[in-house]
Amino acid sequence: MPRAHIPPLLRDAASARRREILAWQVALADGPAIEAVVFDAYGTLFDVASVKVACRELLPDPAPFVALWRAKQLEGSWQRALMGRYADFARVTREALEQALAQFAISADETTIDALLDAWGMLEPFPEVRGTLDRLRGLPLAILSNGSPVMLAAVLDHNDLAARFAAVLSADAARTYKPDPRVYALAPAALDLPADRILFVSANAWDAVGAKAYGFRVAWCNRAAHVGETYGPAPDLELRALDGVADALRR
Ligand code: LAC
Repeated sequence: MPRAHIPPLLRDAASARRREILAWQVALADGPAIEAVVFDAYGTLFDVASVKVACRELLPDPAPFVALWRAKQLEGSWQRALMGRYADFARVTREALEQALAQFAISADETTIDALLDAWGMLEPFPEVRGTLDRLRGLPLAILSNGSPVMLAAVLDHNDLAARFAAVLSADAARTYKPDPRVYALAPAALDLPADRILFVSANAWDAVGAKAYGFRVAWCNRAAHVGETYGPAPDLELRALDGVADALRR
């Protein structure tokens, strides 16, 4: 289409996007070449909000309930890590669910609780996940998650995504949780690469900062345009969706 026929707003948006992609590419060019990409799981590849479907029987508007469940899940993992009382993420997720149920004054039997927990194995990937993984084909890809090995295997099998990853690493191997550096250290060991040749991708702001503090190159997939965390080094790139990773890596 001749340039004159592109509406000005669209033209501006396209050039702003090109400038953004160029800035990411420049940011990554500053340092050793990226040789592998490691993804966080929950909130990054898989949409935690899809747990809402399983909660619809319990309450008409499950969003605040799911938000509290997720917040308690993260808080529980950090609390247990700091106390030196590790329990796997499936247990932490159950404890968080029990707290959220109590807070919302909902009584649920064991069958219901089991069904809600099973929903973590049926989370949906975000819409751009498969296309992004396709574009990154040829680079070693891995997952590094606080999720337990059983939880991660379930959600990958359910979505037929297991074969896309060279390694699926669980914090369980370090018996603590991100952002403890011992968890991030699982990825360079498994991939046999220095941390600064790995691009770690997370939609969780605390995880992006933790990963950068550890020594990875980091892309923060800031889906909801949140304000970043300020208690650690800023990520190298800030994206709105995962396909930005492929753009930044020129793939
Ligand atoms: C993960 C969660 C905590 O590690 O987002 O996958």
